[in-house]
Amino acid sequence: MRLTRRGFLGALGVSALGAASFGSLLLPGASGQTAELLRSKARLPEPFTVPLPIPPLARPVRRDATADHYLITQREAEAEILPGLRTPILGYDGMFPGPTVVSRSGRRTVVTHRNELRVPTVVHLHGGHTPAESDGYPTDLVLPASGGDEHAGMGGNVAHGQRDYVYPCRQRAATLWYHDHRMDFTGPQVYRGLAGFHLIHDDEDDALPLPKGERDIPLMITDRAFAEDGSFLYPAMAGMAGVEADYMEGVLGDVVLVNGAPWPVLDVDAARYRLRILNASNARRYRLSGLPFVQVGSDGGLLARPVTHQELDIAPGERFDVVVDFSHHPPGTELTVHNGLGSGSTAQVIRFRVTRRASDDSTVPDVLSEVEPLDPAKAVRTREWRFRRGEVGDHAAWLINDRPFDPRRVDADVALGDLEIWRVTSDLHHPVHVHLDPFQVVSRDGERPDPADAGWKDTVDLRPSEYVELAVRFTDHAGRYLMHCHNLEHEDMAMMSAFRTR
Ligand code: C2O
Ligand code: CU
Ligand code: CU
Repeated sequence: MRLTRRGFLGALGVSALGAASFGSLLLPGASGQTAELLRSKARLPEPFTVPLPIPPLARPVRRDATADHYLITQREAEAEILPGLRTPILGYDGMFPGPTVVSRSGRRTVVTHRNELRVPTVVHLHGGHTPAESDGYPTDLVLPASGGDEHAGMGGNVAHGQRDYVYPCRQRAATLWYHDHRMDFTGPQVYRGLAGFHLIHDDEDDALPLPKGERDIPLMITDRAFAEDGSFLYPAMAGMAGVEADYMEGVLGDVVLVNGAPWPVLDVDAARYRLRILNASNARRYRLSGLPFVQVGSDGGLLARPVTHQELDIAPGERFDVVVDFSHHPPGTELTVHNGLGSGSTAQVIRFRVTRRASDDSTVPDVLSEVEPLDPAKAVRTREWRFRRGEVGDHAAWLINDRPFDPRRVDADVALGDLEIWRVTSDLHHPVHVHLDPFQVVSRDGERPDPADAGWKDTVDLRPSEYVELAVRFTDHAGRYLMHCHNLEHEDMAMMSAFRTR
């Protein structure tokens, strides 16, 4: 990768000009982003003309005394994303988003992923409390069923054609998602469609009077750019890891998709809805507004108490479970969710159209759950994780503690059960994600965390030149896991680190 003039100025800009001016100086119209905009060449639809699709539920192929078994086939398909055009995708069961898997807390889910693509894949359950063998280490490839193992040389545990991912699901109800995690190629493979929801339900969540059934809706927000023929545009370098140098900060599209549909519209009753919002974009952050969002859950499930947000910042990898109340709006009202960090086509996300009055016995209770606060004073050690741009040889890359990811190197040994403080620092925007167990945000720049940091998190949105302290405690499953930046271009350009639990 060449370090382009723009990239070089970007790197300078942070130290010379200060972080605050960085976005506006170098990324006009895209403030709040560490990324570059890619523009579509296809004709784009009018916003709010395409109905919101709801991904279908995956059906178990078998249930036995202890587990539910699923088969998901990763294959190429075509999707009509822009009306009248066909977009080739890589899809779980040929769909984008993939089918939604629903697990019962405490009951094992086994998903057999069969790879009928032409590229190796890895599946990670994001937010899953998963044994290492099934966590989707980036070199634990599933090679294409059609054969050929020219890709197998990175020392991982390689499967041919398919792999059984075993999820014990011994964790609270939460909105998880599964996505590709192949070493060096996560960005392009997720962008082309390899992402889906995986929800965990439990008795505690079921017993709450929150909206349910048809009024409990997962929303996967992504941004994409399209070529004239409807295919996805992505600035990959043929067969190579990472992206063209101009896009190393991250790839932004100019079309906002929700559940794979451009700026969709959903007809709703005048009632409360639970929306499980996921930012599955490669690099784009959103500032959602237009409705009061009553947050009831975060990455790791229910909050102790609801938190109301007029605006909600959501970075790649994060989830916010919110309740929105349409009951005061007469039929005919249209409510649009805007994105305060977008401009032009990306300033809008989705529209809700209230179509009828309806009965609704849902409420949002003042107490939702119990969240055991982790006491930082009891931490046994503090670790530093510095997320910043650097060089590997004469190539620009994204580094953690000045080192690029090496799948064979372990950067930290953590004893199960120990409470640690992880102090994470950033140069630019980095959504930092930790596998295996959720954490709690203790502070931001030494101050109290943001209201949106409440509860159990697995991804924390670091802003430029910021530091956060996380209270981290892994409960069980000894093995090798990852922490990394969830800006997928940063991830592919080496911003990952392996830790080992024992
Ligand atoms: Cu959602 Cu390691 O990633
Ligand atoms: Cu994860
Ligand atoms: Cu990053």
